[in-house]
Amino acid sequence: MMNEDSSLSNEEAVAENLDSWRLYAQVHARGEGKEFYRIDDLVAGACSLPPWEVEEFGDVNGKSLLHLQCHIGTDTLSWARRGAKVTGLDFAQEAIEEANLLAKNMGIEDARFVCGRVEQAEEVLGGEQFEIVTTGRGALCWLPDLDAWARACSAVTAPGGRLHLEEATPSLMMLDLKEGVLTPRFDQFGHRRSSETSTGSYAAPDYPELRRTHCWEYRYDLIINALVKHGFVIEKLTEREELPWTPWPEVFEQSRPGFWKLKEGYPRIPLSFTLIAKKSQ
Ligand SMILES: C[S@@+](CC[C@H](N)C(=O)[O-])C[C@H]1O[C@@H](n2cnc3c(N)ncnc32)[C@H](O)[C@@H]1O
Repeated sequence: MMNEDSSLSNEEAVAENLDSWRLYAQVHARGEGKEFYRIDDLVAGACSLPPWEVEEFGDVNGKSLLHLQCHIGTDTLSWARRGAKVTGLDFAQEAIEEANLLAKNMGIEDARFVCGRVEQAEEVLGGEQFEIVTTGRGALCWLPDLDAWARACSAVTAPGGRLHLEEATPSLMMLDLKEGVLTPRFDQFGHRRSSETSTGSYAAPDYPELRRTHCWEYRYDLIINALVKHGFVIEKLTEREELPWTPWPEVFEQSRPGFWKLKEGYPRIPLSFTLIAKKSQ
């Protein structure tokens, strides 16, 4: 159920989201979301990263890598397995605890997980800078201020280092499924907030507790201009017709294990994108 609550400030909305993330960290690591995150497979040696990320990042062995909004650390630890010296940052203390537990179960001793807000990453990390900064998937929509985000990304990326983003495309984010028809659900101009009260999460759709979450829409120009303003040069933007999750199982089919695309007959639109930006020297 979509709703608007204009009496709520963005800070109050973020605080409400944090409350849900504290809960979902545990549900995703040890409850109903464990399957989505393939926790047992990961412990047994699997990798959680989409193949295109592995290709785009290149050889990470020995490089310092910061994963912003790392959630329960599945991707962070997959990069650690590929030899990166990893730090994960998330504002939900429970996510940090689950990430540390997962690292232990995976036998990874040198991963570091830090609790803090992405907008304050510079202060939280004491000014440390990294050769690779990645935001993983499903990060941007939780942030009300992309300028503050880009400033923080710039502060933690070493000169000549790279920022990697992976997200659902703005075209997918604006759609809703109504009686089998994909329909635009809002005006894309405005970087507006949308609030939803529902049970379940993307990783645990049957989780019974009703919760309200708030997201902020983004467009390419908002992302790119914020990054350019804060000292990044955009190197590559790639759109794909595959997603590592499924927004509406009715209209999606598996393209390969762990990935989905729109069924035949639906218009082919870009579903996910990656963006690589280099920090100026
Ligand atoms: C959808 S999850 C990220 C999923 C992750 N990329 C993955 O695939 O496992 C979003 C994460 O962002 C974190 N988060 C949201 N807003 C944040 C903020 N302002 N600062 C730090 N972390 C934040 C949440 O706690 C949550 O763990």
